[in-house]
Amino acid sequence: AELRTLSTFRLPAQAAELRCIEHPEQLPALPDFDGPDLILGGGSNTIFLDDWPGRILLDRMRGLSFETIDHDRVRVRAAAGESWHGLVRRCLDEGLHGIENLALIPGSVGAAPVQNIGAYGVELDQVFESLRAWDRQARRWVELDREDCAFAYRDSRFKSQEPDRYFITEVRLVLSRRFSPNLSYSSLAEALDRAQTPEPTPRQLVAAILRLRRHRLPDPARLANAGSFFKNPIVESDQAREVLAITPDLPHWDLPDGRVKLAAGAMLERQGFKGLRRGALGVYTNHALVLVNHGGGQGPELRALIDHLIASIRARYGITLEPEPRLIG
Ligand code: EPU
Repeated sequence: AELRTLSTFRLPAQAAELRCIEHPEQLPALPDFDGPDLILGGGSNTIFLDDWPGRILLDRMRGLSFETIDHDRVRVRAAAGESWHGLVRRCLDEGLHGIENLALIPGSVGAAPVQNIGAYGVELDQVFESLRAWDRQARRWVELDREDCAFAYRDSRFKSQEPDRYFITEVRLVLSRRFSPNLSYSSLAEALDRAQTPEPTPRQLVAAILRLRRHRLPDPARLANAGSFFKNPIVESDQAREVLAITPDLPHWDLPDGRVKLAAGAMLERQGFKGLRRGALGVYTNHALVLVNHGGGQGPELRALIDHLIASIRARYGITLEPEPRLIG
């Protein structure tokens, strides 16, 4: 089976077999397969550098429902195959708040907890309640709460600890009927000030997020990409001081635990990589943290580009950038 169109980075690759999962009941009944399984949602965070020797399980389960908890809180149950942005829009229409800042993130609902999606000061774990999943190892249904999921910055149990063990079928969020916008991210606050809406309505907030994202992130339908290609490195304060001695105005954020998050995009930009072109691949012109495939890119070329960027940042700052998407192969 051809995988190119199943991943938004669109590298050519093959899998031995492809199975579409549209109902949870299909999971316990899946026939045995001689080889590894890989779970794929919208394909916006998985990049095939190489062929996949096993089977791909495509998450295509649909469904959405709302349940009142009390006068303020509402539980949203979303099937894992729903589009994340579709869910954000639907909640906006229902007058439910808390995920406006996560508008336009590509991918499926089921992938959201895997990498604990986040943007503009909000992370999924802040509204997450629980999920239902098929435990492929123990062959049983499980309910996992926030603690079970081991959420961290762009990470969870499902990403770094036990990939492909759990097939997530339903995610539950708790949202609020009261709108108390999170405007903590400085570029968001500035964008609202510029638009003269420092106290936005929910729709104005979403509109501002859409403008910010459209400016900094290419639409994967037009230019193949996987969003931020590297995580923003989190380092101890003395290492941050060394980096800031090299580039004093590098954007950075002090974290509550005393560590410091450094802007990887700015590091790459200072090394002159913004807009770089290497054959069919390159670095996006508006944002150095985003790698793009102009069409016809191949796995080995991408691997070479990744190695080149990582080596250059390591030589300059002594920091090893970590890819954010899941790289296969
Ligand atoms: N910057 C530059 N040059 C660049 C890129 C960034 O100087 O080429 C600086 C910006 O000026 C800014 C800082 O770096 O001060 C951060 O930039 P931005 O707000 O665009 O955020 P980011 O660190 O590039 C992160 C997330 C995004 C998320 C945005 C907004 C990660 C790996 N990425 O990007 O998430 O949308 O913040 O919150 O944490 C994703 O995970 O795929 C993703 C797009």
